[in-house]
Amino acid sequence: MKFESVDKIYKAERAQLSEKYGPREMWSLVDHWPLYCGIGNLGRFLSIYDILRDTIAVPGHIAEFGSWRGANLMFLAKTLQLLDPHSSKMVHCFDSFEGLTNFAPQDGDATTLTGQYKGSLEELTDLISLYRLQDNIEIHKGYVENTLPQTLSQREELSFSFVYCDVDLYDATKTILDHMHPRLSKGGVFVLDEWNYAEFPGETKAVREFLEVHGDAYEAEQPTRARQPSLILRKKKY
Ligand SMILES: C[S@@+](CC[C@H](N)C(=O)[O-])C[C@H]1O[C@@H](n2cnc3c(N)ncnc32)[C@H](O)[C@@H]1O
Repeated sequence: MKFESVDKIYKAERAQLSEKYGPREMWSLVDHWPLYCGIGNLGRFLSIYDILRDTIAVPGHIAEFGSWRGANLMFLAKTLQLLDPHSSKMVHCFDSFEGLTNFAPQDGDATTLTGQYKGSLEELTDLISLYRLQDNIEIHKGYVENTLPQTLSQREELSFSFVYCDVDLYDATKTILDHMHPRLSKGGVFVLDEWNYAEFPGETKAVREFLEVHGDAYEAEQPTRARQPSLILRKKKY
C-alpha cells in the first residue's frame, strides 16, 4: 500500500526520539506543535481548512460524524471562529463515543478493529470549556442510526453546508448520506475520510450506493494536499 514503508520508518524514528528526549509536559508539546506534527497530519488539516473556507458562504451548519477524541471537531470549531465569528453557524458532533462497533457484512475485515477509536466525552467537554466553545458546538451522543433521524425529525430548522463523515463503517455512513442529503444546502459538501480505503470497504460501498441514487445531484472531487479526507461530494447549485 502507498506510504506503508515511509510510515513505518517515520513511526520507528519518532519512537527513538521519544526515548532519547523523554516525556514532555503536554502543553509544551502543544505550543510547539509544528515541531512534532507530521506532513501527513498537517496536510490533512490544511485540506479540511480549504474545504471549510470554500463553503463558508453556503447556508447551514457544520457537522462532524465520528469525532473520537475531538481533534477534527475542535479544528472545525476554532477555524469557524476565525473565518466567521459572527454568523449563527455551529458545529454539530455526532458520535457514540464507543468506538467502532456496529458492523455490517459490507465492512469486511474491519470487524478486527472492534472498539478502536473509543473516545472520552468528559475530556472533550473539558476542552470545549477551556476554549469557551460551548455555544459553538452541539454534541449528539449515541449511534447515528438512532440520533440522526431523531434529531432531524425534532429539528426541522437544521440545514448544513459542510458534513464530515468519519464513522468508517457501512451502516453509519449510509444513514448519514441518506438522511443528510435533503438537509444539505446547494453548494454544500459531504467530505469522506475513508472513501477508497481497503481497510474500510463499507464506507466506499455506502457512498457508491448513495451515488447510484443521487449521483446526478453531486460533483465528486479529489481533495488536495492529503491522503485524508479522500473524497468531496459537492451538491450542485442547479
Ligand atoms: C476514526 S474515528 C473519528 C476520528 C475523528 N474524526 C478525528 O478527527 O480524530 C471514528 C469515530 O466514529 C464513531 N462511530 C463509529 N460508528 C458509529 C455509529 N454507528 N454511531 C456513532 N458514532 C460512531 C466512533 O465512536 C469513533 O469516535
